[in-house]
Amino acid sequence: MLPDGSPQFYLYQSVFADALAEMERAAALNQRLVRLVDGFCADLLGADVTDAAEVLPEGSFGYIAYDLALFLGDMQVLDGLLAKDPDYASAGLRYRPVRYLEIGCGAGRNLLALKYSEALDWVALHGFDIQAALIAAGQSRLGLAEELFVADAMTADYSAYDVVFSYRPFRDDALQKRFEAHLHKSLPVGAYVVAPLSLNAAPSRRMRLMGDSNHIWKKVA
Ligand SMILES: C[S@@+](CC[C@H](N)C(=O)[O-])C[C@H]1O[C@@H](n2cnc3c(N)ncnc32)[C@H](O)[C@@H]1O
Repeated sequence: MLPDGSPQFYLYQSVFADALAEMERAAALNQRLVRLVDGFCADLLGADVTDAAEVLPEGSFGYIAYDLALFLGDMQVLDGLLAKDPDYASAGLRYRPVRYLEIGCGAGRNLLALKYSEALDWVALHGFDIQAALIAAGQSRLGLAEELFVADAMTADYSAYDVVFSYRPFRDDALQKRFEAHLHKSLPVGAYVVAPLSLNAAPSRRMRLMGDSNHIWKKVA
């Protein structure tokens, strides 16, 4: 403990204040960049898409965007995990580039960010949503014609992917649980799941929570 009023006390107090101010500046910058990307996407999509009434099955969530800074932060953590994972080792590369899928991607804002940010090394980038109007808008107005398709999370085939991202497609807990069970069964061994607000912290002994995250899992058996 430093004595109050000592020169060291004032030095530590000022270093701490500087560090805090730096963190606040970084957080504010993050939020500005998120608003910039969200604003561009909204403009490109147009009000006819962003304000359109949603046609959704009973128990589904509509489009609610995951914070883009959190999304890219998750991808950065995942990038670190993949670089250390022997299952993804590849001669001369940081890791074997992954086949990536976003479940319930809306018009594809996160996919657009992933495509250009280089947050992850990918070889295939796909996303689907149950709302055909959002998929059509993302294909024609965000330039994601190759990446997007219409599908139902409850019956989709996940067996071709190394990484899936999912941010609560279902508001109904029973449906969300059924979806998670199907997802975990359909994924290949070795695949990663990034799923904020998922229901099961330990969905099965086959899924292992990775790193310090509370929502990144790997299917281990
Ligand atoms: C909470 S939003 C997440 C949006 C986006 N993934 C993100 O993280 O920014 C849920 C999305 O899931 C979609 N969705 C809901 N039920 C679905 C289903 N059965 N199959 C596919 N997508 C579904 C919704 O249309 C919506 O776009």
